[in-house]
Amino acid sequence: MSVRVALLGCGTVGTEVVRLLEDQAGDLAARVGAPIELAGVAVRRPGRHPGVRQELLTTDPAALVARDDVDVVVEVVGGIEPARSLLLQAIKSGKSVVTANKALLAEDGATLAEAADAAGVDLYYEASVAGAIPLLRPLRESLAGDRITRVAGIVNGTTNFILSAMATSGAGYAEALEEATRLGYAEADPTADVDGYDAASKAAILATIAFHTRVTAADVHCEGIRTVTAADIAAAEGLGCAIKLLAICERVPGAGRGTAAGGAGGVGELGAPESVSARVYPAMIPLSHPLASVGEAFNAVFVEADAAGQLMFYGQGAGGAPTASAVLGDLVAVARNRVGGGRGPRESAYASLPVRPIGDVLTRYHVSLEVADRTGVLSAVAGEFARRGVSIAAVRQTGGEADGEQSAREQQGARLVVVTHGAPDSALAATVEALAGLDVVRGVESVLRVEGLGRPVSTLGVAG
Ligand code: HSE
Repeated sequence: MSVRVALLGCGTVGTEVVRLLEDQAGDLAARVGAPIELAGVAVRRPGRHPGVRQELLTTDPAALVARDDVDVVVEVVGGIEPARSLLLQAIKSGKSVVTANKALLAEDGATLAEAADAAGVDLYYEASVAGAIPLLRPLRESLAGDRITRVAGIVNGTTNFILSAMATSGAGYAEALEEATRLGYAEADPTADVDGYDAASKAAILATIAFHTRVTAADVHCEGIRTVTAADIAAAEGLGCAIKLLAICERVPGAGRGTAAGGAGGVGELGAPESVSARVYPAMIPLSHPLASVGEAFNAVFVEADAAGQLMFYGQGAGGAPTASAVLGDLVAVARNRVGGGRGPRESAYASLPVRPIGDVLTRYHVSLEVADRTGVLSAVAGEFARRGVSIAAVRQTGGEADGEQSAREQQGARLVVVTHGAPDSALAATVEALAGLDVVRGVESVLRVEGLGRPVSTLGVAG
């Protein structure tokens, strides 16, 4: 008996999958208890794959999936269609599926999971989030007896490279993006990465597994890094913080469960049911947090669970060989299940918790304003925060000369930086909008969220 594999796609990841399957054939067979054999590889242009035996190549993925001698379909093409139809076709004909397709899983993972359950086959997708880092299986299996309260991390290497380059060299966003493109970290069209969509798909997958609740990409609030400036990075450093694009998945306790450990979204109002929040945005985090020192294109995910406490997962989140490592791990697991006659864990979405809109989530803001430097400005600014019930944690003014002439001071203006305590995001956003309309505010220079990620306020370098 052997386990026969159809590979859909043979780009950067697929090529490495083929190489590993061939290079390690003997070891893989010993680990599985049967050889894993490639039955075919579906590609668009057969002439472009010198590393694959020509007789394996086909341009007809549907026919490959339909073959009776295929046991497992591995999909590394990406995108919604035709990947979804091909995988559903595979599942319905009794084939197990291994996929790295985060966009498909985040948009319609439920359809695939239901089909896999109905057909009694496996659906594995470790490579869809954070490349080589073993993360989904630890969440799904190792922590299955625990109660996960937060999964927060850096799950997009391109943006982490750009933000790290900005912090290291003082470069602006455009310059750092150019460097990322030149070095091959950013694609020619970087939209999915820099606007946060890639991270949002991964957040949806993580939240679904961590909270036993179906969360789709549409449920994830998403902001990218295009608006982050060199001045923002410098301001963050001044506060003892780094700026990272974070994917944050949090359990928000209902009334009577107290607060999540330091969680921004952790306060349940009276009578509210337990819920979850999933969001992606650039945020300031304390330099003392392990995520702050994750540089270059690396990924890292911080997991908090009631009994396990804090866990950190770190490694390469992209690239051919690292992603192929995760694909092969899944393939071995699925092959073992086939040989042993069992199945891996099914989808677990029993909790069906509601997903909170971003406006209801407690966040903290760092707001930088250009203001006129005259009597009453601070009070006008503070009044807008107070009117919406937003508590200020720290205020810092720079630029105004303490002993200058009043007319000169008024002309020159000053910069006011306000850091808030936690408040509903909608109240913070409304406050910023109101500030922008004040006569005394010449401009809102930047607005960034501040995430303690379980660290107390005092570690952010501002008075609590
Ligand atoms: N484009 C992703 C990143 C890798 O930059 O991390 C694939 O998920």
